[in-house]
Amino acid sequence: MPPRPKTSFVCQQCGFQSPKWTGRCPSCEGWNTFVEERVVAPPKGRSGLGRAPRAPIALGDVPADAEERLATGIAEFDRVLGGGIVQGSCVLLGGDPGIGKSSLLMQASAALAEKGTVLYVSGEESAAQVKLRARRFGIGGDGILLLAETDLGSIIEAIRRVRPIFVVIDSIQTMNSDAIASAAGGVSQLRECAARLLELAKGDDVPIFLVGHVTKEGAVAGPRVLEHIVDAVLYLEGERFHAFRILRATKNRFGSTDEVGVFEMGDNGLREVQNPSEVFLEERGRGVAGSVVVPTVEGTRPLLVEVQALVTPTSFGLPRRTVTGTDPQRLLLLLAVLAKRAGLNSGSHDVYVNLVGGLRIREPAADLGLAVAVASALRDRPADPRTVFVGELGLGGELRRVQRLAVRLKEAERLGFERAVVPAASLADLNGTGLEVQGAASLREALERAGVADR
Ligand SMILES: Nc1ncnc2c1ncn2[C@@H]1O[C@H](COP(=O)(O)OP(=O)(O)OP(=O)(O)O)[C@@H](O)[C@H]1O
Ligand SMILES: [Mg+2]
Repeated sequence: MPPRPKTSFVCQQCGFQSPKWTGRCPSCEGWNTFVEERVVAPPKGRSGLGRAPRAPIALGDVPADAEERLATGIAEFDRVLGGGIVQGSCVLLGGDPGIGKSSLLMQASAALAEKGTVLYVSGEESAAQVKLRARRFGIGGDGILLLAETDLGSIIEAIRRVRPIFVVIDSIQTMNSDAIASAAGGVSQLRECAARLLELAKGDDVPIFLVGHVTKEGAVAGPRVLEHIVDAVLYLEGERFHAFRILRATKNRFGSTDEVGVFEMGDNGLREVQNPSEVFLEERGRGVAGSVVVPTVEGTRPLLVEVQALVTPTSFGLPRRTVTGTDPQRLLLLLAVLAKRAGLNSGSHDVYVNLVGGLRIREPAADLGLAVAVASALRDRPADPRTVFVGELGLGGELRRVQRLAVRLKEAERLGFERAVVPAASLADLNGTGLEVQGAASLREALERAGVADR
């Protein structure tokens, strides 16, 4: 009698394996997340790569050209990768549905096709759909081979045969390997497909980009192991109905994760934005209450962003707080600090806060700018349009130092701002700037300098 195939239950949320079904995952505590997956024994010789086992080599004997980079010429993309695509690397690109992952990789493929053959594997769209997109971008397609396939074995075979200089797998969730008898997108399938592709990338020295879907929470769908397996993890972010997209690395084995790339989505694809601050401030209305410019830093790059706040009396009992582009919890905290430490109570008002351009800011250095915007809206008194505000707010209403202040102020100066209100403790960090810098130790002091304090 043939042996019964081995089965195991795998948590679709965190990848935890269990020999029997359980209602609640003991690892991530998710309910009803276990799915049965049958494991088929791999063919003899492991993974079907069919090569001899490698012997260890001395570190000193490893060829020094191991980190050769392939630049796409799309500067914003190369920058995030740390100066181009590293040969033999496996990179995961995540992002919300429809954000432009396929577009970005199609454009990178077109740029690389000038140097050699590129293989674009599409498991989601038909070859005709991919072609339509390429035509819209004005990409002729010379040097790009399309493969609409989801079977991992056939894809590996095609890569072996074509010997491309760059491979795109769009997306890893649609791929399936016969070694695992469960549906594509399952945890075991994902893990297996990613591991085999990684092995291929390393073994054959070809860079492979995997497109990954993200979950509601914003992480790449599937187990965290996927992020551990690959060499770099990039995310393409942006608000759905805004044109700006930010590409950032959350992991990079070959470069810093501090760099971000800024793009604008248009009819003919993603366009690089070299001067993001200028673009973000283009449509700014001056002298409007509730509008404040905040010098933020994304990675090492300064970005000037307009924060807008609108405050109106609440018409039905519970006041509303609506936030786009920043953490709603942080806004609640700032409103509490404004009420308690500066006497600006918004308890009977609805508060709307919006970051212009669809940008998302998480750094606490934007606290002061947000607070000034709300205070200005609440008082209906515009803050000085030539002043930028930066500082982290403590619960006591004190202003805390921020990182990279000099870079922020330099960018503000470049764009024609004249004054900056910064935490008093940071004044010592600055040596010379073209701006008139005013230190404030507390929120109340900063609001006075902004001209929006209680009189
Ligand atoms: N004809 C068009 N003109 C302008 N923009 C378009 C057009 N068609 C699509 N787009 C833009 O391209 C985006 C889709 O890009 P793309 O297919 O690269 O996204 P994706 O991240 O790969 O999505 P998915 O998760 O579905 O694979 C759309 O959200 C839209 O903004
Ligand atoms: Mg896509």
